[in-house]
Amino acid sequence: MSSLILAIDQGTTSSRALLFRPDTSIAGLAQAEFPQHFPASGWVEHEPEDLWRTTLETCRAAMKQAGVTARDVAAIGITNQRETTLVWDRRTGEAVHRAIVWQDRRSAGICARLKEAGHEPMVTGKTGLILDPYFSGTKIAWILDNVPGARARAEAGELAFGTVDSYLLWRLTGGRLHVTDATNASRTLLFDIHRGAWDEELTGLLGVPASMLPEVRDSSGDFGETDPELFGAAIPIRGVAGDQQAAVVGQACFRPGMVKSTYGTGCFALLNTGSQPVASKNKLLTTIAYQLDGKRTYALEGSIFVAGAAVQWLRDGLGVIESAAETGALAERADPGQDVYLVPAFVGLGAPYWEPDARGALFGLTRGTGPAELARAALESVCFQTADLLAAMRADWADGDGSATVLRVDGGMVASDWTMQRLADLLAAPVDRPEVKETTALGAAYLAGLACGLYPEPEHFADHWRLERRFAPAMEPTLRERRLAGWRKAVSCLVGK
Ligand code: G3P
Repeated sequence: MSSLILAIDQGTTSSRALLFRPDTSIAGLAQAEFPQHFPASGWVEHEPEDLWRTTLETCRAAMKQAGVTARDVAAIGITNQRETTLVWDRRTGEAVHRAIVWQDRRSAGICARLKEAGHEPMVTGKTGLILDPYFSGTKIAWILDNVPGARARAEAGELAFGTVDSYLLWRLTGGRLHVTDATNASRTLLFDIHRGAWDEELTGLLGVPASMLPEVRDSSGDFGETDPELFGAAIPIRGVAGDQQAAVVGQACFRPGMVKSTYGTGCFALLNTGSQPVASKNKLLTTIAYQLDGKRTYALEGSIFVAGAAVQWLRDGLGVIESAAETGALAERADPGQDVYLVPAFVGLGAPYWEPDARGALFGLTRGTGPAELARAALESVCFQTADLLAAMRADWADGDGSATVLRVDGGMVASDWTMQRLADLLAAPVDRPEVKETTALGAAYLAGLACGLYPEPEHFADHWRLERRFAPAMEPTLRERRLAGWRKAVSCLVGK
């Protein structure tokens, strides 16, 4: 009997495919990076064909590595970089433009106009989001306004919109299904998270024809099956969730008050708030964490656009490190007497500042500043930003049971002990690193495995979560306060300018 689940994790810088056994151990893994395109300041694009090609290649490679065929795979679960926007021709399958990536700021002007016109309270009330170019809605509007003929074709019903999950589903099913799940829909600015439906007032406001939108389904359930030509046999697709929501599932944050924070290209902290959407008073987002059997579980989310990307910048932009893995050891050698701060607003600032036009800055440089101080500043910038998010969460969730005090972490950067210790120090809260680090992919696999009966109900799945190491805060409170004050001062130079 086929008992493996194939998780597809289509991320911002690479596509990955992982095969999970029923005990959640990994039987095969493949990863492929693809080019990033930066055609103008603040613009970020992906070639749709690259997303598809690397997805296909890594799925095939993972199966080959595990020595299995499509017949051994019970189901596929998909998780993806969220908000990234694709528009394609329903008949030919051709994308009308490159994918506009979540980090892309080109629709800042559209957002500013909508804000000025006083639309933000209505938009936030329905979607839980704010008017920032981060989300898909204004990116679709930009494509329809800037690609010659696109608006007319969209109005004639010829074009389809999808986030990456939806695009991959469409390609995997040979163009038979145009669907998405509730977590991905909740990131578009077009979806009413309270009713769980596309909203006419929002589609009208952004000028997006409803015919372009995919059908929205539960995160665990029937998403069709792959075209048999692709892998030699049809494989059922049974789970879909945005990558940050999949990490909530993979980290087993099923109880209200539980928080996870994932350190990939960006950093995204999600606090499970249960069946009630909580409106933030501190500029966090309200989003759908997962939808099972038609029931939505909500989360408060803090989104930071640059985390691992700051380390990438040290490597590819400055050339001060050769591999990301060196960064922690280099940071450890930094001069404790130098207070160097990096505000990595390379693509603006996300939560809780929401400054799309801000750009990065370094503060506190001296003649003695070198690679070690820059490495420390880059890693600490991620910790400081997480501290900002947790502070906002604690303020928003004061009515809860007082949890939101332990952080479950995952993603590439958590491999660095130095960074995790500094994180605990600056948060003044314990940081829990799990044994299974592939939590995003595991979440997608779980959603698919739940639908086909291979994995147990959430309460029982949560028993599988194992702590690898807890980092307890150890920094002197006065030092912590001084460092946090320095960070706040640095950020304030970029905010509101
Ligand atoms: O919202 C964007 C997020 O989904 C991207 O995740 O892992 O590619 O940084 P990641």
